[in-house]
Amino acid sequence: MSHNLFALTLHCLQEPDLDKKMQQVDQLLQIWTEDGFDFTPSHEIVRIPDPGRPQKPDLVPPKDLPRRGLGSIEGHAALMHSIAHIEFNAINLALDAVYRFQDMPKQYYGDWLGVAGEESYHFQMIREHLFHLGYEYGDFSAHDGLWMTTYQTDHDSLVRMALVPRTLEARGLDVTPAMIQKLRAIGDKRGVEILKILLRDEIGHVEVGTRWFRYLCQQRNENPFAQFKAVVDQYFHGNLRGPFNFEARKEAGFSDEEIAWLKTL
Ligand SMILES: [Fe+2]
Ligand SMILES: [Fe+2]
Repeated sequence: MSHNLFALTLHCLQEPDLDKKMQQVDQLLQIWTEDGFDFTPSHEIVRIPDPGRPQKPDLVPPKDLPRRGLGSIEGHAALMHSIAHIEFNAINLALDAVYRFQDMPKQYYGDWLGVAGEESYHFQMIREHLFHLGYEYGDFSAHDGLWMTTYQTDHDSLVRMALVPRTLEARGLDVTPAMIQKLRAIGDKRGVEILKILLRDEIGHVEVGTRWFRYLCQQRNENPFAQFKAVVDQYFHGNLRGPFNFEARKEAGFSDEEIAWLKTL
């Protein structure tokens, strides 16, 4: 039986059940490993205002999310929950990158399926850790910023690569070291361990975004630096501001020119 990459990826993207979605991610990776996909494009590429996700968490505007310190178990769990939500969304982000842009070289799909697999693994680790704190994914509310940016960049692969991996996921590189310190300060050894894995892997995800962003710039004869700035200006809501993790961003393929620009912000 032949498996169409885009049809199966869309199915997984729209799957609302957590465990089924993660099983389907594993299955996609398995078929990829066996070189079992056909790449026939879909008749129609649908826009997805709402990807498959469980009923909970409730999605609220960012300003309505309660701020809690790490001093209580509840606050500690709320931090883990917010990371779980990011990782869960990141699965959908990676799947959408596969499904939506159907005219890319084969390796693009291998890269983004690989990212989906790592996000699923991140989600499972955080979910388990959250469980040890007495909570489950869905127990706190969350916001929908990640998917909104994904949805708003569904018309152009270049814009998507600039905004989602290179801006949103790259933000994770900046903020994770401080979170690691906070968790260390409250003695959460396992949390520290998990976040270190996430940070290492996320450098890879941003690097995947950088590589395909540059590929698309080259295809269109565009200057990557000028394009990156233009896309951030046009699409990024809010301020791009530091402190930046320049070392990690460099590893993730940010150019000297881009780093110098970030330093001016
Ligand atoms: Fe992740
Ligand atoms: Fe990621």
